[in-house]
Amino acid sequence: MDKYVIEGGRKLYGTIALQSAKNSVLPLLAASILTEKRVTIRETPQITDVLCMIQILRELGAEVRFSNGNVVVESADASCHEISSVLTGELRSSVFMLGSLLTRFHRALIAYPGGCDIGLRPIDMHLNALKQLGVSISERDGCIFCECDKLRGADILLDFPSVGATENILLAAVKAEGRTVLTGAAKEPEIVDLQNFLNAMGAKISGAGTDVIEIEGVKELGGVSYKPMKDRIEAGTYLIACAVCGGEVETTGLTPDNLRLLLHKLRENGCKIHTKNDKIRIESCGRLKCNRRIETMPFPGFPTDLQAQATALNAGAEGGALIVENLFETRFKYVPELQKMGADIQVKDRHAFVRGVKRLHGASVVAGDLRGGAALVIAALGAEGRSEVLDLSHTDRGYADFRGKLKKLGAEIKRVRV
Ligand code: EPZ
Repeated sequence: MDKYVIEGGRKLYGTIALQSAKNSVLPLLAASILTEKRVTIRETPQITDVLCMIQILRELGAEVRFSNGNVVVESADASCHEISSVLTGELRSSVFMLGSLLTRFHRALIAYPGGCDIGLRPIDMHLNALKQLGVSISERDGCIFCECDKLRGADILLDFPSVGATENILLAAVKAEGRTVLTGAAKEPEIVDLQNFLNAMGAKISGAGTDVIEIEGVKELGGVSYKPMKDRIEAGTYLIACAVCGGEVETTGLTPDNLRLLLHKLRENGCKIHTKNDKIRIESCGRLKCNRRIETMPFPGFPTDLQAQATALNAGAEGGALIVENLFETRFKYVPELQKMGADIQVKDRHAFVRGVKRLHGASVVAGDLRGGAALVIAALGAEGRSEVLDLSHTDRGYADFRGKLKKLGAEIKRVRV
């Protein structure tokens, strides 16, 4: 296991070269088996969630090469429709492989993707939607078996804008017979990226980014070479890190609209935010005011994937803040680790009551999930003295070269084998 050793108090200056969005690349990789032609996904980040998805594709029989940032998938020889429990355990979001496998093979067998550190994460909406598309589903011994003679378009209504369920529906309806109208769809930018990717393969999808998406089933899909959108959560993580440490950091390649609410909250903290085309620049003196209230909501609301990082910011700011986590049941598990650094936070169910302290102090803390781990790194960067952040397997899932990018901005951070 590795750990970060961080000396807090360094200001951050410079430009971040953003990775392609983890939460776009994963569904694009799932979509790559919808055609037997070659699919290339360019500028793919070297993160373990991507490596896990590549392993899943290889186990299905696809040939996958990952070099110079490009992932090339050739799945003409893929013939397996089963995903092992080891891999669905490692990568919960592999559940949207169901849609791809059903479109490709009309069958799918995956182990029930269990809950994880941020909540139960049921998949009832995925399964109900697939049934409406003509899929019969049985569950036994912790596995889900799906099959259909053909996929038929349907009018589907989601009672919650689930990102994964929306993606699964696009992947299952793209070659279905007839038309599918999905109402109540998730509006995240990653859904728009998936629509653009599929349309570049010859699909007929419209409406992504709104809550009604129409999918006209097509007979065939061709190959594609595609550059995914930039990672708005990675960008938000670095912007929050600069807010906490002080300094001036710029991101490029990401439309500010993808982070509008975060930028609004950072201005509330007292940071200066400048945006122009695909550039976002933050200036911070490091002494911040608390946000009175942050509520996570589906896009375009405040992203749940930035909740932990924003809580770490408020822990060392002036005043008090109420953080409400509306998406996941238990997404405050990182708080006890922040309390070891002197944070004054009380958690009750989905609410965290933060009383800002003058400054956090260094401590040895353990990451328990991807975004909670990022929050601990941010807190350590701004804290007084030395910190250690253990179990980097979590941040390795979603942040390519996290240490290298922070070091380039001026952080005093080392990665050490324990
Ligand atoms: C995606 O997860 C992201 N993961 C998550 O990012 C992100 O936090 C989440 O969307 C919300 O934006 C990927 O894209 C790979 P949901 P997903 O379905 O699809 C409930 C990260 O840190 N729900 O929108 O699993 C569910 O329990 C990760 O990068 C059901 O009840 O999110 C949750 O409470 C973490 N039944 C809520 O909806 C269902 O069938 C949101 O889930 C499906 C979901």
